[in-house]
Amino acid sequence: RPLVILISGTGSNMQAIVRAAQAQRWRERLGAFVAAVISNRPDAKGLAWAQGEGLPTAVVDHKAYPSREAFDAALAEAIARFDPDGRALVVLAGFMRILTPGFVERFAGRLINIHPSLLPAFPGLHTHRRALEAGCRFAGATVHLVTAELDHGPILEQAVVPILPGDTPEALAARVLTQEHLIYPRAIERWLRDAGA
Ligand code: GRF
Repeated sequence: RPLVILISGTGSNMQAIVRAAQAQRWRERLGAFVAAVISNRPDAKGLAWAQGEGLPTAVVDHKAYPSREAFDAALAEAIARFDPDGRALVVLAGFMRILTPGFVERFAGRLINIHPSLLPAFPGLHTHRRALEAGCRFAGATVHLVTAELDHGPILEQAVVPILPGDTPEALAARVLTQEHLIYPRAIERWLRDAGA
């Protein structure tokens, strides 16, 4: 089964997933392979990394489309080029665009996301700053199936990190990101196993 990874930036989660696929032999064990990395930003750092790995890449630049619907249609088309049977797991890895209900519906059950908070707390942006401002003692990350409502949907995996005295949003983000790199591959592997070949 193909995995299509969507990114917007650094792509450190994508890198963790690609490395896990190699180390855990997903192709041999689960019939799963990273078929493509697609970015909405032509300058996303993760794209160059993926190319260096010899992975197929594509860019669907949201700025080239007049509406979310038009962008999502182009994105779905780009995914379909790497997913002839319409079975790919579509992995949002730091993909910073809100998707339309039509897009989410099309990929229902095989569209997953990672969010840097302990959902349902702090959906949306600036999660680390908001967790600090709220006086939380713990923060974390959540892998979840994507539904039409932003940063909702069934939870597949979570990790918790402590918030330490004097934490800044940046320090907390780095602590959370380390955990993201562990739980995202784990969640994907479990999804693949549960989905069967
Ligand atoms: C991660 O914290 C992810 O949860 C978020 O944006 C960040 C992306 O990092 N929404 P990267 O591009 O995977 O390095």
